[in-house]
Amino acid sequence: MVISGKELSARLKAEMAEQVKSFPAKYGRVPHLVVILVGEDPASVSYVTGKAKASAEVGIRNTTIRKPESISEAELLEIIAGLNADPEVDGILVQLPLPKHIDEDKVIAAIDKSKDVDGFHPLNVAALWQKQPCTLPCTPKGIIKMLKAAGVEITGKRAVVIGRSNIVGLPVSKLLLDENATVTMAHSRTRNLAEVTRGAEILVVAIGRPKFVTADMVSEGTVVIDVGVNRDPETGKLCGDVDFAAIEPKASVITPVPGGVGPMTICCLMENTIECFLKRH
Ligand code: GUN
Repeated sequence: MVISGKELSARLKAEMAEQVKSFPAKYGRVPHLVVILVGEDPASVSYVTGKAKASAEVGIRNTTIRKPESISEAELLEIIAGLNADPEVDGILVQLPLPKHIDEDKVIAAIDKSKDVDGFHPLNVAALWQKQPCTLPCTPKGIIKMLKAAGVEITGKRAVVIGRSNIVGLPVSKLLLDENATVTMAHSRTRNLAEVTRGAEILVVAIGRPKFVTADMVSEGTVVIDVGVNRDPETGKLCGDVDFAAIEPKASVITPVPGGVGPMTICCLMENTIECFLKRH
């Protein structure tokens, strides 16, 4: 079975749109998400455009602030301070990565925790690892939603996550653990990776290498979640971290690229924006 993140997110966005329609009468306005884009990296431009489009579909007000690559860290921090203080702003997202001269950790920590729709603020991260209420990071949240929508039982399963990034690998491992999976965190230094991945009943791949996971690395019946968004060096088309064509016949459930995890990430960003808005009211 191929899980369509595109279809699932369309359904969820339609439900959110209904919910948001009732907000002006109840709260006097709709949620407001501000996205900051520094520079013109084509992938980042495309993600930011996708976020604006989804906001429009859901009825969320979206402001995209575009700044040149040359912006100083101080200037960016000043913009964030202004948005933190603005009562009409519910969510602030700084598109990553940032240029090298800007300290990403400092920028993330400068965002008011209650407006941190990415769930990247150190206080949100701490809350996640202590199992306290928090804003969940969008990609891991979307992955768990997809698994549940596909009827995948997570409890007791052997889950292997390849990749240990703050954005995906670490938090998705924690969420799988919270769903009672037995989680192995694998990465570039893991020895005998294929042996580890062959033991997976749920395999989440987030390493950013085109078609890195090949058919011999996956056992029959595995649930495969592909977080990668890469250009296939041969065809120039978008592809995941998983060799989809080779693995789809072996997997019990698999997510495509594009149209899998990506749309679910954006859908969860909309949900997080609504949650932050509701907490303010
Ligand atoms: N760059 C890649 N993924 C993300 C994300 O989820 N949030 C932000 N802010 N930047 C990203």
